[in-house]
Amino acid sequence: MDSHENQRPLNEPETNQTLSFTSKLKKAFAFYILPLLILFLAISLTLNNTNYYKTQLLKHTFSSNPNLFQTIFALLSPTQQKPRIKQSPKPISKPPYCVLWMAPFLSGGGYSSESWSYILALHEHIKNSSFKLAIDHHGDLESVEFWEGLPGPTKNLAVELYNTECTMSNKTLVICHSEPGAWYPPLFETSPCPPGVYQNFKAVIGRTMFETDRVNSEHVKRCNRMDYVWVPTEFHVSTFVESGVDPSKVVKIVQPIDVKFFDPLEYKPLNLHSVESLVIGGPTRRPKSNSEFVFLSVFKWEYRKGWDVLLKAYLEEFSGVDGVALYLLTNPYHTDSDFGNKIVEFVENSGLEKPVTGWAPVYVIDSHIDQIDLPRLYKAADAFVLPSRGEGWGRPIVEAMAMSLPVIATNWSGPTEYMTEENSYPLPPERMSEVTEGPFRGHLWAEPSVGKLRVLMRRVMNNIEEAKARGKKAREDMIRKYSPDIVANILTDHIQKILEKSDE
Ligand SMILES: *[C@@H]1O[C@H](CO)[C@@H](O)[C@H](O)[C@H]1NC(C)=O
Ligand SMILES: *[C@@H]1O[C@H](CO)[C@@H](O)[C@H](O)[C@H]1NC(C)=O
Ligand SMILES: *[C@@H]1O[C@H](CO)[C@@H](O)[C@H](O)[C@H]1NC(C)=O
Repeated sequence: MDSHENQRPLNEPETNQTLSFTSKLKKAFAFYILPLLILFLAISLTLNNTNYYKTQLLKHTFSSNPNLFQTIFALLSPTQQKPRIKQSPKPISKPPYCVLWMAPFLSGGGYSSESWSYILALHEHIKNSSFKLAIDHHGDLESVEFWEGLPGPTKNLAVELYNTECTMSNKTLVICHSEPGAWYPPLFETSPCPPGVYQNFKAVIGRTMFETDRVNSEHVKRCNRMDYVWVPTEFHVSTFVESGVDPSKVVKIVQPIDVKFFDPLEYKPLNLHSVESLVIGGPTRRPKSNSEFVFLSVFKWEYRKGWDVLLKAYLEEFSGVDGVALYLLTNPYHTDSDFGNKIVEFVENSGLEKPVTGWAPVYVIDSHIDQIDLPRLYKAADAFVLPSRGEGWGRPIVEAMAMSLPVIATNWSGPTEYMTEENSYPLPPERMSEVTEGPFRGHLWAEPSVGKLRVLMRRVMNNIEEAKARGKKAREDMIRKYSPDIVANILTDHIQKILEKSDE
């Protein structure tokens, strides 16, 4: 590790431990009936004191800013609290090592869903390995709505892994899964990752990615402070190394997709009419069929996602008599959520001419879709389209592919890792363009072509058999290359190798 300047020691253990322990007792008193409290005390007292302090020290670091995890777990029903008590003595026995995965588990954003995909994959896979898994929230704001929409088993697992304790020692490997600006010392307020000095652990790994052609110098510096930097694609390996990240630290670990959860055979389509708002155009029907051909796009409302390109291509190519519909599931990104008006405004200012047969309809899905309902949303679509300018991995793209949908997405950055002419419709970028706003001004990303997108959208709609075949191949490729057990194998191999390395 190079830079020491910014590292500060943890808070003094003794006083804080007492505090943390007392407040724990108070909480317990508030939530459990007396026998349970006695059980809790009995177990706590049987704990080896040294180990207890060590594990509590680490836990306390997490607790310095109460986060949603803590709030949620304080409010959970006693049935979910019980395992916590019973499990606390266990970690002292085997397995000997601990992997602490810190990520924005509760934010519901891109890093959030991908961190869950790793955790769920690993959890299934490490039953018999030399390390246990612990998690904590870090790196982004928390969303209660997202937590509430998680499947029950995922919530239970979150509780279990959050309550698993790692020691601050060479037995613990820390993974900071977030944008480098969140790594210690963070550039914004978030729980510290790693929790304490970098050298206190067996290794500290930064797991990150980026959406432009380079990594800025601040982030390069932060990457090089890590022992390893995990990135999901070849695109990132080359852009990170070209930007100055130490090549010996950069490791490609692809991202898993839960092909059992995203399995088209398991779901009935969501009734789109129950969640949509019509923004422009009117409902249309395909001739000979009773329904419209549904294009779906899922994205955060930001320029990078190319929603402008999508609207232009769709509205130029189709009109009110084509029997198509475009559904946008979008959420705010530093904006308000009045997407309907934003779209109308965009169309008015775009110089697009309204077809004589009327606009092809555009719908915004403006009610919150729980994670658990996402597969049904994909199931309700005939094709997925996302002409974005740059992607880290592109989770909605692989989710759609796992759901056997034909996918049209820009063939640049992260998605080049998994998109082929056989399993999707790669949209070639027209040229590179400069990022003009925000902290990454001056970087380059791809400019997708409106004309080529029109051609591909029309092609998917007119060649249903070809589109279905590509969708089928998409699911096969997702299962073969990115299913949780395959990625978990890759992950555990890397983790095992690091753990087995002797300390210098
Ligand atoms: C667990 O691992 C040990 C040694 O690596 C092996 O001997 C044993 O068969 C494994 N058990 C299971 C259930 O996989
Ligand atoms: C997609 O991009 C990759 C990487 O630039 C390239 O190798 C591949 O040929 C492209 N595929 C298509 C279908 O254009
Ligand atoms: C971990 O550190 C201890 C001393 O703190 C040392 O005795 C031990 O050998 C180290 N373990 C490994 C696996 O390097």
